[in-house]
Amino acid sequence: MAQTIGIIQIKGGAGRSTLATNLSALLAERNTVALIDADMPQGTSAAWASIRLADKPHSLTLATTTTYQDLVEQVSRLAPHHDYVIIDTPPRGAEMTRAALILSDLCLVPLTASAAEIWATSDLLATIHEAREVRSDVDVRLIWTRFRGNTRSAQELSAVAQQDLGLKELKNKLGYRVAFSEALARGLSVLEWPDRTARVEFQAVGKEIKKILEGKR
Ligand SMILES: Nc1ncnc2c1ncn2[C@@H]1O[C@H](COP(=O)(O)OP(=O)(O)OP(=O)(O)O)[C@@H](O)[C@H]1O
Ligand SMILES: [Mg+2]
Repeated sequence: MAQTIGIIQIKGGAGRSTLATNLSALLAERNTVALIDADMPQGTSAAWASIRLADKPHSLTLATTTTYQDLVEQVSRLAPHHDYVIIDTPPRGAEMTRAALILSDLCLVPLTASAAEIWATSDLLATIHEAREVRSDVDVRLIWTRFRGNTRSAQELSAVAQQDLGLKELKNKLGYRVAFSEALARGLSVLEWPDRTARVEFQAVGKEIKKILEGKR
């Protein structure tokens, strides 16, 4: 039975699809992965997977969905036949986010060091509380992306995010790397892109996520 990872964030353009696609590629290196794009018709993850799957046979399955009821069905259909199910969610629509929270063993919230995104993420707290009424062990972690750690504002925002949002964050962060958009456009991950820093950063993030999930088996 698969472990399910939801990628959620109320704010658009936060880096959900980038995380969903790269994580799918990383986990599919050794395991079977179903990637569900629940952000249709935009379908960034779906477009990425279509390019990728056209290229070579893969341990990756793509599914798309437009309603939270269908998301529930898709997860129960795919989970028995895969090691991981990854859900890329739309920015708006609390229903889809709530469903992803309830269905997932781990939910990741990409966050860039901008006050606007941190304020938007605080709106997410209400949805997390609702989901916890249904499933008390909902596990949500922030993941910093496009992070510029050496700036004072980034460090201040990191402290505020932990205090105000009260959410755990991944130790490993992703910096601002052009490799992410370059690789995505070609159906690739940064693991397959000639940018060593991006690759090493993402491998560390992937390792941390795998370890969290192993602790839940
Ligand atoms: N770590 C990063 N470094 C540089 N660019 C990044 C990084 N992460 C994401 N991006 C870029 O930021 C933009 C938004 O990322 P992405 O599409 O993953 O976000 P999203 O939350 O899925 O957005 P949407 O609301 O459009 O679905 C893309 O152009 C992507 O290439
Ligand atoms: Mg997206």
